[in-house]
Amino acid sequence: MDFILVKPHFHPHVALIQLNRPKELNALNLQLMAQLRDALRQLDAEEVVRTIIITGNDRAFAAGADIKEMAGKSAVDMLITDQFATWDQIRKTKKPVIAAVSGFALGGGCELAMTCDMIVASETAVFGQPEIKLGIMPGAGGTQRLTRAIGKAKAMEMVLTGKTLSAHDAERFGLVNRVVPVDLYLDEAVRLASEIASMSPVAVRLAKESVNRAHETSLDEGLHFERKNFYLCFASEDQKEGMQAFVEKRPANFKGK
Ligand code: CAA
Repeated sequence: MDFILVKPHFHPHVALIQLNRPKELNALNLQLMAQLRDALRQLDAEEVVRTIIITGNDRAFAAGADIKEMAGKSAVDMLITDQFATWDQIRKTKKPVIAAVSGFALGGGCELAMTCDMIVASETAVFGQPEIKLGIMPGAGGTQRLTRAIGKAKAMEMVLTGKTLSAHDAERFGLVNRVVPVDLYLDEAVRLASEIASMSPVAVRLAKESVNRAHETSLDEGLHFERKNFYLCFASEDQKEGMQAFVEKRPANFKGK
């Protein structure tokens, strides 16, 4: 059963993955997450693909991990299955991944959006970590990524009360890149993805790694990492082309070499 739809050539250099359990509001069961991990791995390896968009439908990006699948499990079941190990693979995707979010992005849905590099939201998007209402807590990065994105006070309130954020508040607090009308969120994500796809894939990959380091290490280590990646850009033909094009006042033609 296909719980996701994959369109590697949705737009030049832009691939699209659509979560596809609409009746369950795209609840993220084990199979869906495994399919998502495999699709990302494959698209990451395809040279023609430069950016990847993950989306749901207008009503739901994803309403969380599948509660029905988890309800009867014991702590040992959860430990042995270690379902969130799949999510580590998603985080390791080297190409930029944009979440195009409309409707519910709750629990694991919010965590999946935050695992992406950027979020384009429709005006109807609702973000939240309601796990506390189920007698559990976020388990796929919610306490860490939400806190880093919007700060401790607001994250603490959301995680401890299950209170949700509107799209506009999410934008105001820095969780999402931009909010657009519901009929435009996918177009806007494609526009952003295409803009990034026009840059050097080598430089984009190194820059993504470096920005992520800002979240994951000390400033000192992060700056060191950034500097080494910056110098490494000069090993690429794209760097020569990009700078030559600037000097010659013409658009650059990046090849990912
Ligand atoms: N898991 C499994 N099924 C889900 C689901 C989920 N997370 N969210 C929605 N569904 C199912 C519903 O059970 C319902 O199925 P049935 O028709 O078979 O009953 C269907 O999707 C439609 O949902 P509703 O009828 O509830 O739709 P609504 O518009 O009345 O409410 C909602 C929408 C507010 C999102 C509500 O569905 C809801 O509260 N969902 C659960 C949200 C949640 O708690 N998410 C966190 C899950 S735990 C987690 O994610 C842990 C983690 O850290 C990874």
